[in-house]
Amino acid sequence: MVDNPNLWILNGPNLNLLGDREPDQYGHETLDMIKDRCVREANKHNLSIVFKQTNHEGELVAWIQESKKEAAGLIINAGAYTHTSVAVLDALKLLTIPIIEVHLSNIFSREEFRHHSYISSVASGLICGFGGDGYILSINAISNKITN
Ligand code: DQA
Repeated sequence: MVDNPNLWILNGPNLNLLGDREPDQYGHETLDMIKDRCVREANKHNLSIVFKQTNHEGELVAWIQESKKEAAGLIINAGAYTHTSVAVLDALKLLTIPIIEVHLSNIFSREEFRHHSYISSVASGLICGFGGDGYILSINAISNKITN
């Protein structure tokens, strides 16, 4: 078991607008509120957190590459890039650490184009449909994988 392992939580486009953005779909919680909850939850598991958001595909790819050296586990909500980005998939394929895919909304109960994820095939698991709680569930799930 690694001491105080580092958990990276990466967020893709438009997730900076949570709180204002389609609250019926994504709830009223802001990304900062979710981040605060994640930090508290991670502390309980003796994990330190790197929590980032970007609207740029290349930046997301660069962070995924960086996580290979820095992270013991990765939680990713790639937003719309989930459904479009082979580049994100290829970057994730480089990793050997556990990956959890998270979405606030239930992507399978929404439009057809959201039913396909480029990420699911390389993720250890997928949590969707529980709003911000999905991040907390993901931390619990991944901490078991990191520390066991
Ligand atoms: C999302 C679902 C995606 O389909 C959408 O493009 C997002 C948010 C979610 O968290 O529910 O931006 O990833």
